[in-house]
Amino acid sequence: MQYFFLKFLHVIGAAVLLGTGVGIAFFMLLAHLRGKPTAAAEVARIVVIADFVFTATAVVAQPITGVLLAWSAGYSLREGWIFWSIVLYLITGAFWLPVVWMQMRMRDLATRAVQENAPLPQAYHRLFWLWFAFGFPAFGAVVAIFWLMIARPQLPVWMVS
Ligand code: HEM
Repeated sequence: MQYFFLKFLHVIGAAVLLGTGVGIAFFMLLAHLRGKPTAAAEVARIVVIADFVFTATAVVAQPITGVLLAWSAGYSLREGWIFWSIVLYLITGAFWLPVVWMQMRMRDLATRAVQENAPLPQAYHRLFWLWFAFGFPAFGAVVAIFWLMIARPQLPVWMVS
């Protein structure tokens, strides 16, 4: 019962992580392509809130439910698929944290452009494409974690004896 409850929370967390990430990327891209400071400012404002409410919660909960699941099912954290998932999770986090900052900065730049009745500044555009580029490794790592969690392949763990 406890195992299934943990697994339920873990799979919901995985869905929230992937779903919020893809949704945010889609809305930010469309708002950017529209080219209007009002759209960019409003979408970035909502995206920042969504990331704090949904992504941040799932980011914290996922390793907790994951480790509890491993204990409950009798897996060692040194099993290849779990070990490499944790490595990929840290990589995802390393790309996600700057992305959160970039979104806040883009929100502020676009809001100022609206207030000054000016077009989106160069700094916004530069930041947008950096934000866009950071999304690929983060997304790729999350998809790879999904695969590792579902397929549970036998993988070597070189770094731990
Ligand atoms: C970061 C530390 C994590 C640990 C320690 C961990 C651990 C585990 C364990 C032990 C299971 C197997 C449960 C079982 O079937 O007996 C599992 C399943 C699963 N995990 Fe994770 N997990 C982690 C992160 C993630 C992340 C980041 C995602 C996706 C975003 C994810 C997605 C899944 C999914 C979809 C399953 C169900 C697989 C299936 O039943 O076929 N996990 N996880």
